[in-house]
Amino acid sequence: MGEHSAKRTAGEAAARLVEGGQYLGLGTGSTTAFTICAIGHRIRQEGLHVSGVPTSAAAARLARECGVPLVTLDEVETLDIAFDGADEVSPTLDLIKGRGAAHTREKIVASLARRFVVLVDESKMVQVLGTRSPVPVEVLPMATAPVMRALETLGANPELRMGVHKDGPVVSDQGFWIVDAYFDGIRDPAAMDRQLQQIPGVLDHGLFVGLTTSVLIGLPSGKVRRLTAT
Ligand code: A5P
Repeated sequence: MGEHSAKRTAGEAAARLVEGGQYLGLGTGSTTAFTICAIGHRIRQEGLHVSGVPTSAAAARLARECGVPLVTLDEVETLDIAFDGADEVSPTLDLIKGRGAAHTREKIVASLARRFVVLVDESKMVQVLGTRSPVPVEVLPMATAPVMRALETLGANPELRMGVHKDGPVVSDQGFWIVDAYFDGIRDPAAMDRQLQQIPGVLDHGLFVGLTTSVLIGLPSGKVRRLTAT
């Protein structure tokens, strides 16, 4: 079973946690895509009544295609469950997210949910955050140079993320740019979270500290391993 199937296993297991009447956070990425489609399937098959807040234009588009009704944060104060993928998961269930540049909205949605359920395959599990993936930092375009210098003083090697099939920088759903901050491991994610948040011009970044309720890991066997925050 490949990475794709393990992601499907985790994504579809998440859809089985949903109960009628719930408000959901709909994450972004290839793993949560399986969840959104499986929820749409349950809506059609079982008449399940749910609605979701999408974390990106991509998630909103997919939800519409799959028949999942959408609501906004103007209409809903709290969410029952937010589902999302991750780029790295630490032993304490802290995360790096944002490979798809959706981490700012993803963090807002996760923070409003009673349960934040993270869906991954085994390749995302790390001992120390920042050893494989950069921390994506969403920046106001005019502040890009000073933010990159500030990231260097924090020990990062910052790179402005460039578009694929588009000239110039990646532009987020908010019209901001993304700087990928490469660290040689982040020993104290909570401290780094605070330091990144204090840089003027940073909208938000992809370190998710203390937000996760549980992690569903899709395994090559087709089973799911569940980790719960203590
Ligand atoms: C989107 O910006 C990201 O935070 C994704 O949720 C994360 O990169 C996981 O994506 P995959 O499920 O595609 O691996």
